[in-house]
Amino acid sequence: MKADKGELKFPDGFLWGAATSAYQVEGGNVNDWSEWEKKNADRLAGEAKTKWQKWQQEKFPEMFDPKNYICGRACDFYNRYESDLDIAKSLGLNAFRISIEWSRIEPEEGKFDEREIEHYRKVIEAIRARGMEPFVTLWHFTNPLWLEEIGGVENNKFPFYFSRYVEQVAVNFGELVDYWMTFNEPTVIILKSYLRGEWPPAKKNILSAMKTYRRFSKAHNLAYDKIHKVSQNKKVGIVSAISCLEAGNKKSILDKISVFAADYFGNKKILDLISKKSDFLGVNYYRRIKIKFPLILKEYSGEVTDLGWDINPEGIYRILKDLKKYNLPIYITENGITDAEDAKREKFIKDHLRWIHKAIQEGVDARGYFHWSFLDNFEWDKGFWPRFGLVEVDYKTMERKIRPSAWEYAKICKNNFVDL
Ligand code: BGC
Repeated sequence: MKADKGELKFPDGFLWGAATSAYQVEGGNVNDWSEWEKKNADRLAGEAKTKWQKWQQEKFPEMFDPKNYICGRACDFYNRYESDLDIAKSLGLNAFRISIEWSRIEPEEGKFDEREIEHYRKVIEAIRARGMEPFVTLWHFTNPLWLEEIGGVENNKFPFYFSRYVEQVAVNFGELVDYWMTFNEPTVIILKSYLRGEWPPAKKNILSAMKTYRRFSKAHNLAYDKIHKVSQNKKVGIVSAISCLEAGNKKSILDKISVFAADYFGNKKILDLISKKSDFLGVNYYRRIKIKFPLILKEYSGEVTDLGWDINPEGIYRILKDLKKYNLPIYITENGITDAEDAKREKFIKDHLRWIHKAIQEGVDARGYFHWSFLDNFEWDKGFWPRFGLVEVDYKTMERKIRPSAWEYAKICKNNFVDL
């Protein structure tokens, strides 16, 4: 990893990728989210007036349209994956992250859809055929309707159902995948879906939240065993959203206790429960968060993204150093910015990579970086207006346009270094 003058070289074999998730890009999915958004689109459009600042409302008037909150055909990646993967290849990526939509594979309890299994086999083959390593997430926020009807993640058979689905997938196209991720950001779901009631199933119940920790970790551990039973040498991990947390007032003991609690319940608890059955950690990092007692989030005054999120590249270094204690290889499975004008993305990527490089030099075993996202996509309860993509999507025509920052990222991927 010797650096030439002005270059920060990454380790040989470092994976350079971009990430997607099934519901956000595929289109045509029917699951708990598609049902929930139908009931909530009008409300979300109405709330935009109070939720977003004036500059955001003026820049993205789509937020007032209920249609913005209906995922529908999303980016139509389900049908366009071949040409989209051609774009990924042209950018020099050597890895690509997708997720499998459980509701497609198992639309009815215990009935597995051969055609959909075949579809994902083809997608994964297409990723491999273009020289990219597939990173496959098995659950990215959505549940089949039959499962939701019987309590979703809270159902005490959730670990059994999940691991049974995972086994089907691993048996059917497991030979094509070396890196599996069981869950994407379970703590985000615990917080938004079970504590704050903002996402389906919209619960506000601390007991449900505590229960879901156990369900997710048990399901992960069971799925880990199932995949390893099918094939010993696969790598199985989980993806966690890790924010860089700071006390609102650095001198306040209560603020510091709040940070400790948020770090434990938001970042560490789930990792402590699953780290013995994990071959790597997936880390999603977006921003720094300031916390005041009792767990109130405060804004920073510096530079922000279109979503108003604080931009803090150093935060990724701090969390990587902190995660070193788990002694597992780390992949940055998401890191990205909403930036419709593409004015800040190039700098965002480079600055984060410089801090990742520093962490690697100081002994952190980080082995890959996946930019979020490959395409503009459906940003959950915010809908389509936030633009995360390396590639811009015109949702009317489905035309793709590679953003200038993506070409800058492509240079990094091809060279395996970022300039100083
Ligand atoms: C999720 C993505 C989401 C992204 C940006 C992560 O929490 O995994 O699905 O689009 O952050 O909010």
